Amino acid sequence: MKKYVVLTGAGISAESGIKTFRDSGGLWENHDVQQVASPEGFQKDPKLVWQFYKDRFAQSLSVQPNAAHLALKKMEDKLQDNFHLITQNVDGLHSRAGSKRVLELHGSLSTAFCTVCRASHPLIELDLSCEIPSCKKCGNMLRPDIVWFGEIPYFLYEIEQLLKDCEVFIVIGTSGSVYPAAGFVMTAKLFGAHTIAVNLSRPDNLGFIDEMHQGHCTELLPPLVESMIGSL
Ligand code: APR
Repeated sequence: MKKYVVLTGAGISAESGIKTFRDSGGLWENHDVQQVASPEGFQKDPKLVWQFYKDRFAQSLSVQPNAAHLALKKMEDKLQDNFHLITQNVDGLHSRAGSKRVLELHGSLSTAFCTVCRASHPLIELDLSCEIPSCKKCGNMLRPDIVWFGEIPYFLYEIEQLLKDCEVFIVIGTSGSVYPAAGFVMTAKLFGAHTIAVNLSRPDNLGFIDEMHQGHCTELLPPLVESMIGSL
């Protein structure tokens, strides 16, 4: 059985009603990235940053996983140890769709950690009415568990091993413009994987894509998954 690795981006959650970042009307059109998605921005105005992530957390709870998320859960059920899912998304929709083998490269809206003792706190256990939640262990300021620009993403060592071993690498709903995630397809290809993209527009790293499926992922992904797992 072939080893599959999937990387998803904001485009897979777009049809659930969550804005992407760089499409027209995207998140970065109305927010200054440095202000709300950088350690410097948090240091300068933690209240503003907390409000930004509390709003996004609340919105993530108000939407549902879509047919593309569910197709990947089905793929995981069939492939088990031969399937790994890496997501740049922090909305938790893959887990809510039932996916278990999810590596959240950029963190998660649903957790925070202490800026001093680094104790992790689920947001549902926090009093989000206060402007800046504080640590239940040491009382210091909490921050969203989001990998901001200039910070090191999670799981990079595990991901490097997965990219070397995989035989099929599928990238879904991402512009391919933010590294290191945008470079994963190149590594996979260099190690011999067949690379597939499912995306509404042509991603920046198209040069490393063997098979491009252009369109909405809720339409394209379910039949593509059927064709792959059906042939196993
Ligand atoms: N189906 C398939 N693809 C879609 C759909 C859809 N319904 N809607 C949008 N897309 C595609 C767009 O064409 C675009 O190429 O999804 C991509 C979204 O790109 P971005 O907005 O750049 O989001 P993403 O690639 O996930 O951003 C990467 O940048 O800001 C950081 O940390 C943030 O994880 C994020 C990272």
